[in-house]
Amino acid sequence: MKHLGKVFLFVLIVAFVIGGMAFAGGSKEGAAPAAAMSDSGFPPITHRPIVVGFSQIGSESEWRTADTASVQQSLKDDPDMQMIYSDAQQKQENQIAALRSFVARKVDVILFTALVETGYRPVLEEAKAAHIPVIMIDRDVAKEDQDLRLTIMGSDFIKEGQKAATWLADYLKKQGIDDGKKSIDIVELQGTTGSAPALERYKGFRDIMKDHPNWEITHSQTGDFTSTGGKQVMEAFLKADRNIQVLYAHNDQMALGAIQAIKEAGLKPGKDIIIVSIDGVKGIFQAIVNGESNCTVECNPLLGPQAVQAIHDLADGKKLPPRIWTIEGVYDASNAAAALPTRQY
Ligand code: AHR
Repeated sequence: MKHLGKVFLFVLIVAFVIGGMAFAGGSKEGAAPAAAMSDSGFPPITHRPIVVGFSQIGSESEWRTADTASVQQSLKDDPDMQMIYSDAQQKQENQIAALRSFVARKVDVILFTALVETGYRPVLEEAKAAHIPVIMIDRDVAKEDQDLRLTIMGSDFIKEGQKAATWLADYLKKQGIDDGKKSIDIVELQGTTGSAPALERYKGFRDIMKDHPNWEITHSQTGDFTSTGGKQVMEAFLKADRNIQVLYAHNDQMALGAIQAIKEAGLKPGKDIIIVSIDGVKGIFQAIVNGESNCTVECNPLLGPQAVQAIHDLADGKKLPPRIWTIEGVYDASNAAAALPTRQY
């Protein structure tokens, strides 16, 4: 009898310990059970539809319009997805409010393009505390905040700046313009101050400039990635300096505005001033074909299919790579006309 009592006590203790462990690992509302975590650190998403909050920065360029349409269409076309969309209209405070509302609505995934690199840490911490995975699309946050997002898909902006400068070096050499000694005067239209593409395209171009000590950036200012900004700033550059040989624009939209300014100043864009920009929108392809611009480095905005695939992978419990790159080319007078009819943006 005494022995039976000991066995009973032992069974009771084991049941208590197991029960306690299950309680500790069990989920509070919204928290995931530890055992169900996938390699990405989030539990697989088993319900449908998967609710996706998409925070876009605005509609500053043709590129952005194509990007928004691609992501929205891909989400709409997928019966497993339900999208909540927010357009920040180029204001960071709007974007932070949108992210906060996604957290309050307990969306399953956040797709997020950061207007500028910094200033999002508190809201990203809120998303993390609510166990909502954040997938960056196109523009990333700064290095010190990247621990709060799961992955980034989009272009290598540093490489784009390097490609623009490499194309320029080759062109100047082939045209017999650069003897390596005479100064080459370059003006630069920067993108939105503090944004990832502006910071990285700035850097990438200068990486290559190190091999060309006679190149000089005589003026550099933001045109905010818009054609109005590009036109206004180029007008000011032209007033200050009539010897500009090259324009490097961080996007095509600003280059298109600058082309207007150059024409209005009585100069020939693409001839009197060599123009190299980034994106690959139809407008700049047409300008290259017309001889009014010289080169565009492609930056692919059609990120929708990749984004939807990543969400599916995440929902299936697969580990997402920390970086998902897009593949891009360089276009000038040698190949722009052939590519123009098939351009999608
Ligand atoms: O983030 C990508 C950049 O943003 C594109 O180059 C530009 O056109 C857009 O505004």
